[in-house]
Amino acid sequence: MSTPPVCNYEGSDYQTSFWDQGGREYEDRAEAIALKKMLPKSGTLRVMLELGAGAGRNTPRYAGFERIVVLDYSTTQLAQAQQRLGRSDKYIYVAADIYRLPFRSCQFDAATMIRTLHHMADAPKALGQVQNVLQPGAVFILEFANKLHPKSILRYWFGKQSWNPFTLEPVEFVKLNFDFHPRAVRNWLGELGFDVEKILAVSHFRVGFLKRLVPAKLLAALDGFFQPTGALWQLTPSIFIRARLPQKGTETIHIPENIVDLFKCPDCGNEKLEEKKDHLHCPNCQAKWAIRDGIHDFRERS
Ligand SMILES: C[S@@+](CC[C@H](N)C(=O)[O-])C[C@H]1O[C@@H](n2cnc3c(N)ncnc32)[C@H](O)[C@@H]1O
Ligand SMILES: [Zn+2]
Repeated sequence: MSTPPVCNYEGSDYQTSFWDQGGREYEDRAEAIALKKMLPKSGTLRVMLELGAGAGRNTPRYAGFERIVVLDYSTTQLAQAQQRLGRSDKYIYVAADIYRLPFRSCQFDAATMIRTLHHMADAPKALGQVQNVLQPGAVFILEFANKLHPKSILRYWFGKQSWNPFTLEPVEFVKLNFDFHPRAVRNWLGELGFDVEKILAVSHFRVGFLKRLVPAKLLAALDGFFQPTGALWQLTPSIFIRARLPQKGTETIHIPENIVDLFKCPDCGNEKLEEKKDHLHCPNCQAKWAIRDGIHDFRERS
């Protein structure tokens, strides 16, 4: 099965260069505020899937969940996440491609995907994978980079930018880096059966001189004040959506105690993988999925 190309972060110093030393305290704080507004506070908080978790910058913000599957394509990002979060039963580290998720259907109570749709050349396909692994009634918190914001609109009107911010197609401004139109994302979620519950407009003040003048904490608090305007219009560079799958009756699907029972073979779809010392074995297609340094690796069979 062919899948779209992956933006590979293997060996990348993303966390250090972009976040720790990149002058993005304001953006990080604004996201923390948005996530707090988006995360479910009660109900079933058992297993959360964090897609494109990177170095686990946001993972501690999901602490209310019993278990968190920290998923990324890059094992070096996951190793950094392990350093930050530690190894315990709470965190399950999975190296896998979002286009080829190695989970049985209906396994998760919630999923988040922050700054990661950004790298999806086939966003509807990626979102379809997420929909498949969520339980009925589950919450999906999705952040995406918005192509429709004042800077892109002005640049377009003044002839400084060829692409049109008002049209629905994504724009690939750098290879495998995409900005999306908010209506296109809402349409895709709707087509997959999600109900959009809440929209937040985030990072209103992502402007160099403001970030230099105003302390990050204050600027982020101001952003938090304006985030709910996302219900009315979405003109900020970052948009958060909380979407939910419809509940089917009162039945909740049993979530397995044993980690191996979360998984399926991403090659053949077999749901009965056998646990071996350093890998999971698929008795159907004979694939071996390595477990190395506490990371379940589903990228390539060995
Ligand atoms: C911009 S980083 C964001 C990391 C984290 N969510 C954060 O906000 O700090 C994007 C992450 O998505 C991961 N990623 C990109 N394409 C992926 C794919 N097809 N499957 C799994 N992870 C992917 C990258 O490895 C990278 O860690
Ligand atoms: Zn198999």
